[in-house]
Formats: sequence, C-alpha cells, structure tokens
Amino acid sequence: RTRPIVAIDGPAGAGKSSVARRLAERLGFVLVDTGALYRTVALAAQRDGIAFDDAEGLERLTHSLVAANAIAFAPAQGREPRVSFSGEDISDAIRTPEMGMGASIVSAHPGVRAALLDLQRKLGEGGGVVLEGRDIGTVVFPDADVKFFLTASPEVRATRRFEELVAKGQSVTFEGTLEEVKKRDAQDMNRAHAPLRRAPTAILIDSSGNTVDETVSKMADIVLAHG
Ligand code: C5P
Repeated sequence: RTRPIVAIDGPAGAGKSSVARRLAERLGFVLVDTGALYRTVALAAQRDGIAFDDAEGLERLTHSLVAANAIAFAPAQGREPRVSFSGEDISDAIRTPEMGMGASIVSAHPGVRAALLDLQRKLGEGGGVVLEGRDIGTVVFPDADVKFFLTASPEVRATRRFEELVAKGQSVTFEGTLEEVKKRDAQDMNRAHAPLRRAPTAILIDSSGNTVDETVSKMADIVLAHG
C-alpha cells in the first residue's frame, strides 16, 4: 500500500470520534468507526431478542450480519459517518448511551470480535484510512503505520460526552454520564479478549487541555512526517 493505515484507540469520550473524523478529513483519508460495528450488533441483538449474555446467539448473529453485508458506512462531511443496517439508517439509533453500554457488553464475547475482524481488516487494508476503536493498534492492525492512543481525564471525557448527548437532545445527567464512562472503561480494560490497552508502539496523546483542532494538528503533523 502507498498510503498509511492510522490506528486510533482509547477510552470512551476521549474525543476519538471527532478527532478521528477531522483527522481523516484533513488527510483526505477514509474513516472507519469500528465502535459502530459493535453498536450495530447490540442493536440487532436487541431487535431480535438475543440476550447480551448469549455468546453463541450473538456470534451467529454477527456472522450473519457480516455475510449478508448488512452493515454499511457512508461518509458524511463534517458529521459522524452514517451507518446503515439492511438499508435502514441507524446512525442515531446506535449512538445512544444504551447502545454504547450494549456494545461494550457484546464486544466482550470473543466470537463476536472474531466475526468482525476480517471485515475491519478489509475496510482498512488498502491504506489511506483512519481506524478508530479499542484494539486497532493491538489486534486489528498491529502493523499499522501510525498508532495513537488518545486519552483524557475521566471528568473531561464525561463532560464532553455529556455535552454531546445534550446537544443531541438526549435527557442525561452529568453524574450518570460520568458513571457510564467509568463503568464502560472498566469493562473494556478488564475483559479477557482484546482489552483496551495502549500498544507499546502507540503514541500517547492526552487531549485534556487541548481543543479538537490542536489535537488534530498535532496528529496530522505526526502522520505527514511518517511520509
Ligand atoms: O467507540 P464506541 O463508544 O462507539 O464503542 C462502543 C463499544 O464498542 C466500546 O465501549 C467497546 O466496548 C466496543 N469496541 C470494541 N472494540 C473496538 C471498538 C469498540 O470493543 N475496536
């Protein structure tokens, strides 16, 4: 490949989605929001009445979604990418705290993760791509050209998450959002399979004291310097 694969991992609310989107726009790269895949599995499971602890049922469901090419991404300038499921636009339905928590639970099943692995690799292997998630630099693309681990303090992350959800018109409290952020981090970092952790070669970016623009500029400089 001639253009790089850029991996961005980090905890919930570190600003990953806005940073990844703006970085991809700045570089003219495709953005792959891998969290959306796990959120879609959670939504599909909820609709089909498959419990989040039914490992076998979830694995079967995920394989069938992938085989049917049911999940599609469409870039949206200046916004989060649109996600459709069997032709239905589910972008808003998957980006709720409930589906964030659901994604965190279903994604702990190794069968679900394995079922989404090839799809993620196919989406990224051509290069010229920014992939955003929890295990991109450790599992999906351990040989990515540039790896970032983006983080911020839990309070800063909860504040951003809270403001984002309020802006979307969702009725949430700050305390509830902080609890959700902490619980999801603990779940993602402590799971047995592909836990959230910084790859040894990932560049640590703490966005706590910076604007999205400042963080994106710093990261774009690093990618461009990579050549
Ligand atoms: O990034 P986002 O908040 O959309 O991710 C939702 C959940 O999906 C995360 O909390 C995590 O449990 C799971 N996930 C994952 N691996 C990824 C991306 C997301 O396990 N690469």
